[in-house]
Amino acid sequence: FDIETFVAKLPKAELHLHIEGSLEPELMFELAQRNNVAIPFDSVEAVRAAYDFSNLQDFLDIYYAGANVLLTARDFEDLTFAYFKRIAADNVRHAEIFFDPQTHTDRGVAFETVVEGIIAGMNRAEAELGVTSGLILSFLRHLPEEAAFATLEMAKPYLDRFIGVGLDSSEMGHPPSKFERVFAACRELGLKICAHAGEEGPPEYVHEALDLLKIDRMDHGNRAMEDEALVARLAKEQMTLTVCPLSNLKLCVVKDLKDHPIPNMLAKGLHVTLNSDDPSYFGGYVNDNYIQLAKAVGLTREQIIQMARNSFEGSFLPDEKKAQYL
Ligand code: HPA
Ligand code: ZN
Repeated sequence: FDIETFVAKLPKAELHLHIEGSLEPELMFELAQRNNVAIPFDSVEAVRAAYDFSNLQDFLDIYYAGANVLLTARDFEDLTFAYFKRIAADNVRHAEIFFDPQTHTDRGVAFETVVEGIIAGMNRAEAELGVTSGLILSFLRHLPEEAAFATLEMAKPYLDRFIGVGLDSSEMGHPPSKFERVFAACRELGLKICAHAGEEGPPEYVHEALDLLKIDRMDHGNRAMEDEALVARLAKEQMTLTVCPLSNLKLCVVKDLKDHPIPNMLAKGLHVTLNSDDPSYFGGYVNDNYIQLAKAVGLTREQIIQMARNSFEGSFLPDEKKAQYL
């Protein structure tokens, strides 16, 4: 069957997307000029050529540097709207997007500026493109738990703008247990809980995300496959995993897309979804992830439909909204 057309027509939700990771080199240059910020590249091609990573940290260093061009609410709005415009073309109907407030507040951009800009982009996307969305505040795990608590304090006047919280950045050496208290505080505030776990970190970090952070959704989860009992538990609980094949390839979590664990995850009954993570840096949006993975591992139509359904089921949309897609 014609995979490209089939995937393009399928309604999908995206559940694992860092809005800062959707900054395309062209917009990076435009914002650098607009804001008079120096960037260490002299062309769009030079930026793309620098996106050659051997692990998560390699990527994060460049991703945080790229975010330096984002200063005003309009910058964040332009960034956000550009992402939604791009995914509307992929027939993505709903997206739950992460942002990293500490990346911006730590360089003097006000929390309010970031949130107002992103929300303006999301509102425009819903009005002009019909794509709905939710915003997830993600804590940087390489920073101390006190910094996450301080960020949560800044977020308190805007709590109704967030559907949940997440945990991202350098995984190794920064286990979920480091953030047990701040996530307990987030749960008390009624926020949904996500965490990156098992991208580079061991199965033990996945256990901690489940047992200590009490996650509602798991980001990545690849290395859970090393622990049979853990796989059985994730299947039994029908925990949604937001898997990101092109990210896994670019960050060398898998050597080749042919080695991707998705077929095995599906065979074990895991509730998996396909997502783009940081599409500008990893070379593909949602449909590219479906298509390239399908070609590499030979997914069936039924498996593709199942993962698109999972993306709505695993979303934080209210049940009546989910029902429109299921
Ligand atoms: N992993 C951890 N942190 C991140 C990622 C990721 O894939 N993308 C943006 N921040
Ligand atoms: Zn991610």
